Amino acid sequence: MTITSEESLVLIKPDGVARNLTGEILSRIEAKGYQLVDIKLIEPERSLLAAHYAEHEGKPFYEPLLEFMESGPIVAIRIAGNRVIEGFRSLAGTTDPTTAAPGTIRGDLGRDWGLKVQQNLVHGSDSPESAERELAIWFG
Ligand code: PPS
Repeated sequence: MTITSEESLVLIKPDGVARNLTGEILSRIEAKGYQLVDIKLIEPERSLLAAHYAEHEGKPFYEPLLEFMESGPIVAIRIAGNRVIEGFRSLAGTTDPTTAAPGTIRGDLGRDWGLKVQQNLVHGSDSPESAERELAIWFG
């Protein structure tokens, strides 16, 4: 196990903001001990979302996902800490909120709403390379 301080991008997706879960999600990040370095409320252009999700272009969920991400404000957060990338993904839980483990953000707060798009409250970078790329897209 290598201990290195690093940064990650977290997004509270439109469902999380609309359901007034921003404070709850920030509390979980802070309670875990990660540092909030920068934060903003943003309604991104499609071009920003297309850049963010470029690796998923062509997948069946790509268009509905972009439409969902355009449906309301998003909270973008730069967080920092030792092993924060894997740490936040552990806090978030697995992609599908129905089966995400209890105790995680998605497992405790998310569910299947029967919509065509999966609403799973948060995004977290999945590798140091993704974090660097995504932080540049969202925070310049
Ligand atoms: S993949 O194909 O294995 O890379 O997919 P995965 O890593 O599970 O998910 C990649 C991102 O796409 C989102 N996703 C979806 N959104 C809406 N509807 C459906 N059906 C769906 N399937 C996957 C998933 O939440 C990931 O988004 P982020 O923002 O990275 O969490």
